[in-house]
Amino acid sequence: MMALLPENAPFSPPQRAWLNGFFAGLMGLEQTSDGTPAAAAPVEEEIDTPWHDPAMALAERMKLAEGKPVKWQLMAAMGQLDCGQCGYLCEPYAAQIASGAEKDLNKCVPGGKATAKTIRLLLEKSPPPASAGQTPALERPTGQNAAESRASAGVSRDRPAKAKLLAATALNAGETDKPVNNIALSLAGTGIRYQPGDSLGVWPANNPDEVELILSILKTKGSKSITLHGAAANARDALTRRVNLREPTAELFALMADHAHLEFESVRLAMLAQNDELVADYGIHDVFDVLVKFRSARPPIGPFLNALAPLQPRLYSIASSLRAHPDEVHLTVGVVRYDLNGRGYHGVASNFFAEHLAEGRRVPVYIQPAHGFALPADSSKPVIMVGPGTGIAPFRAFLEERAAAGATGKNWLFFGAQHEAGDFLYRDQLETLVRDGQLTRLSTAFSRDQAQKIYVQHRMIEHAAGIWAWLNEGAYFYVCGDAKRMAADVDAALKEIVSEQGRMDAAAAAAFVKQLAKDGRYCRDVY
Ligand SMILES: Cc1cc2nc3c(=O)[nH]c(=O)nc-3n(C[C@H](O)[C@H](O)[C@H](O)COP(=O)(O)OP(=O)(O)OC[C@H]3O[C@@H](n4cnc5c(N)ncnc54)[C@H](O)[C@@H]3O)c2cc1C
Ligand SMILES: NC(=O)c1ccc[n+]([C@@H]2O[C@H](COP(=O)([O-])OP(=O)(O)OC[C@H]3O[C@@H](n4cnc5c(N)ncnc54)[C@H](OP(=O)(O)O)[C@@H]3O)[C@@H](O)[C@H]2O)c1
Repeated sequence: MMALLPENAPFSPPQRAWLNGFFAGLMGLEQTSDGTPAAAAPVEEEIDTPWHDPAMALAERMKLAEGKPVKWQLMAAMGQLDCGQCGYLCEPYAAQIASGAEKDLNKCVPGGKATAKTIRLLLEKSPPPASAGQTPALERPTGQNAAESRASAGVSRDRPAKAKLLAATALNAGETDKPVNNIALSLAGTGIRYQPGDSLGVWPANNPDEVELILSILKTKGSKSITLHGAAANARDALTRRVNLREPTAELFALMADHAHLEFESVRLAMLAQNDELVADYGIHDVFDVLVKFRSARPPIGPFLNALAPLQPRLYSIASSLRAHPDEVHLTVGVVRYDLNGRGYHGVASNFFAEHLAEGRRVPVYIQPAHGFALPADSSKPVIMVGPGTGIAPFRAFLEERAAAGATGKNWLFFGAQHEAGDFLYRDQLETLVRDGQLTRLSTAFSRDQAQKIYVQHRMIEHAAGIWAWLNEGAYFYVCGDAKRMAADVDAALKEIVSEQGRMDAAAAAAFVKQLAKDGRYCRDVY
């Protein structure tokens, strides 16, 4: 007999038995009566997952998974970041949904509504087995054993520790369209340790002004006791820490339809509950909009809260090294603010840090360990880092770590931002590192300081020979930041450099880059 789960995986005996059985089923292993798999030859062939690329569009990913068993199609629908925000990696989340053990289809934060919708459509065609409801509730089914060992003292997504805000410092100088803050948190007393490359999971609180407005619209006292998904809470606390006020659910529209006094509002709300494609057409972007647009619908606070999706944690690439900042963690947080439908919207977590968390107050956090995004074990190896915008975060951590550890390997950073004057994040620190010889090369691309756009990949092409030489010396190549456009463009530039400098055709260059990734020398942390 063999157990598939490691001994220290955080599950109760019934969960362990069920999980061993579940994974055995997936792998084609025989099961014994207690759910422990007996050794047998796996029958499911090892599958390549070419859609597991966060820079690839959803439609393209779904095409690649077409015709495969539903688990793989579900996986292709995920954000492909393996970020752990949902409590799983992409593949186990897909497996849990396919088996019916996981009912919440909205957990993939990076994939957002498009992912949730694709999953719903796939399940309409291939529903989970009817027996699925009998599986035990799983806290955190897989993928985070490393989290357990690193985030010591049992700190995890579901058992976060409280970190204290030391300072939120603007990283911009003067005018900017892209405000970014360095958030310094104290980890003293939490037992949390991390490695450069890891991310910090943060459980933010919703905007307190919005919470008070919703309470007053629903004519409810904040102290009112309610039951939210079986647990007791008061209304203000539940609105602040437990529910997602950004994305209205079909359940909310249906509830509002039931409570609307005006017939036409009720009909419209019922339509929105059926078809989420109409939601944006009605100028609805968040939960508050629903209350403002449909004034005759005022459900009681308890059902209202239970109709909302749960608040999810946000991840931030760690921007500090413990060697340089003992007992601290720093983040590089871009403040999300935008106008739509004649209204201003604020991102929850970035504005929580920027506006609502006072110095000295605490926030629940945990470590999300990186999957293959770490400094080379051999510190004499050169590293090339491409991190425009907030993508610089992990590279500040890398540089601090290498400097503090006395690493001999060369470091080359490509940084991009809109304007040199306002958006050169960590400028003083980077220039000092250059002067001290710790940062061997710093190449900047300020996109809007001249008539034509200049991006990091343009600088890479200008320095093609240098990049090729460093790669031949064994350099590791890292990319962090925008997944949708930048990561794909940088990938194309890297292949172009390999092709030109290495005198290879496109296919050989692509194979070379694929091999770099397989060897752990091409690593991406994109979002
Ligand atoms: C692995 C990982 C690492 C990350 N590292 C960092 C980091 O180092 N620094 C950093 O700043 N962020 C980072 N992020 C992103 C971060 O997790 C949050 O997503 C980000 O801060 C926004 O969160 P929020 O709560 O402020 O905004 P939310 O309340 O989540 O709002 C953001 C949502 O608003 C919507 N939106 C945003 N802009 C517009 C617009 N113009 N029009 C319409 N809708 C819009 C989108 O649906 C978007 O998803 C990372 C993400 C991942 C997965
Ligand atoms: N999920 C979220 O809600 C959330 C929140 C915050 C950030 N993010 C993402 O995090 C990433 C970083 O955001 P950021 O605001 O710090 O920086 P950013 O938007 O990536 O901008 C940084 C620099 O990159 C440039 N750039 C734009 N397109 C590019 C491309 N295709 N290739 C290379 N460079 C490109 C920008 O130029 P121009 O602007 O002049 O074109 C700017 O000079 C972005 O993807 C952003 O979408 C997501």
